[in-house]
Amino acid sequence: MYKSKIIGVGHYVPDNVITNSDLEKLMDTSNEWIVERTGIQERRHIKKGSGDSPSTMGTKAAKIAMERAGVTADELDFIVFATLSPDYYFPGPGVMVQEQLGIKEIGALDVRNQCSGFIYALSVADQFIKTGMYKKILVIGAENHSGGLDMTTRGRNISVIFGDGAGAVVLEATEEENSGVLSTHLHAEGKHAEELAMIGPNTGNWVPEIMASDGKDLSYYPNMNGSFVFKNAVVRFQEVIFEALKTNNKEISDIDLLIPHQANLRISQFVQQKLDLSDDQVYNNIMRYGNTTAASIPIAMSEAWQEGKIKDGDLLCLAAFGSGFTWASALINW
Ligand code: UT7
Repeated sequence: MYKSKIIGVGHYVPDNVITNSDLEKLMDTSNEWIVERTGIQERRHIKKGSGDSPSTMGTKAAKIAMERAGVTADELDFIVFATLSPDYYFPGPGVMVQEQLGIKEIGALDVRNQCSGFIYALSVADQFIKTGMYKKILVIGAENHSGGLDMTTRGRNISVIFGDGAGAVVLEATEEENSGVLSTHLHAEGKHAEELAMIGPNTGNWVPEIMASDGKDLSYYPNMNGSFVFKNAVVRFQEVIFEALKTNNKEISDIDLLIPHQANLRISQFVQQKLDLSDDQVYNNIMRYGNTTAASIPIAMSEAWQEGKIKDGDLLCLAAFGSGFTWASALINW
């Protein structure tokens, strides 16, 4: 029976740094509020005209992951791309990465599960490897949030949080006994779909109708019931981490590194405290990048790996919660 092993991880973020004081000039907010409520100090925004997009950033992250894995583009069997902010409404960015990497005719799948998107994508890729269908799969999470945020006081509860970037991993089939992805766990509760969503334009309320509203229809900006999302997140994070541990007969103390989706530093700290994890057992970089949704876990994984915080044999736990609501976890023997 095959397992999936992460053999390379990489990330790319635009070099345009937006600090909290930059945001103070655009809206009624403050560095104190943002740091105290979210832990975020700065984030990256794509500069218009730079050529960066979810697909091009995803390709840059993928190239780094492939180089670290020692894998060339023509060895890949499949691409899975997670994002909530695709280059185009359709087609999705998976096919664009395939073209940008110059790969011929392999399948490219797009995953739409927001903050849980990377773990959902990893899980899908893992199933293809377990069945023996594919041997090497590229999994990408990338977002261009800044292109669609309300950068006025009206949108401040969302626009100060989100940032742009991309992360990628190369998965390879392995027959090693105690190596690779041990299990993935996926959940959703669609009754809360509109608590964190971008509703328009949609097929029932298309662009001309929004334009005809004379600026009254703002459904093309994301909206979030922040405190409701927060309360659900702290519970679901814990549940899904315990589910992963129980499935594999592991204890909290067995976790070498928890990489939580970087939603809010207060959420990560709350979960850390409830699970009684030490600072060394939890990786956070939201201070530098904000919430990059599907990109947050692979960016954090790539930085943690670069910093020597993920070593061979380590037990890694990934966990995420977000729009949908969706939540997910993965337990990995590195
Ligand atoms: O990626 C996964 C999904 N996302 C999340 O997990 C995010 C979950 N939610 C959160 O992180 C937090 O709810 C927020 C950071 C979004 C908001 O923090 P909060 O402590 O829940 O604040 P709040 O929404 O209850 O707002 C408190 C006050 C309000 O003012 P009033 O009504 O008390 O006068 C807001 O209008 O803070 C105000 N506020 C701001 N003030 C300054 C909201 N956003 C801002 C802002 N700057 N950017």
